[in-house]
Amino acid sequence: MGRIAIIIAVGYGVLGLLVVALIAGVVWSSTLGRNHQVDTRKLSEREKTWFGIVVFVLVGLLFGTIFFTPYGRGAGPDGAQVVPVTAQQFAFVVPQTTLHVGKPVAFKLTSKDVSHGFAVFDPQHTFLFQVQVTPGKTQWYRWTFSKPGTYTIECFEYCGVGHDQMGGQFTVVR
Ligand code: CUA
Repeated sequence: MGRIAIIIAVGYGVLGLLVVALIAGVVWSSTLGRNHQVDTRKLSEREKTWFGIVVFVLVGLLFGTIFFTPYGRGAGPDGAQVVPVTAQQFAFVVPQTTLHVGKPVAFKLTSKDVSHGFAVFDPQHTFLFQVQVTPGKTQWYRWTFSKPGTYTIECFEYCGVGHDQMGGQFTVVR
């Protein structure tokens, strides 16, 4: 376990204990003063107030965030550079095109035979994304590359005896 993982685990542990202590405290304090007469009308008023506050906050959150959701935004070309990629046992065929840093790329993926997994790694071999390519269907995937270099492709879905050899590469320039 790395140091960051330990810090996160301890953090969650402390947070968990605090939440349990808070709940215990509220439960304990609520059992005090049982002998008092409960004013139900006052409680009912308070309930209405809190209901109003909750509705107000939820409606506020809804309208404060809904315009930022990517609803309806397609994965298709939409002004991006289209790169058709054909997957087949056992290679990804990528055309020799020049891709630029900071410009959106729309991969148009098709498979000639079975399902494949189109997985892309950056020049430091850090995994970026993976998308399934199934035969008989066109799969779109948009990505904007942030650094130049040679990117590698690996197949992430078992597709036959040559699956582990299945890959490809492309270059991104400034
Ligand atoms: Cu293609 Cu595994």
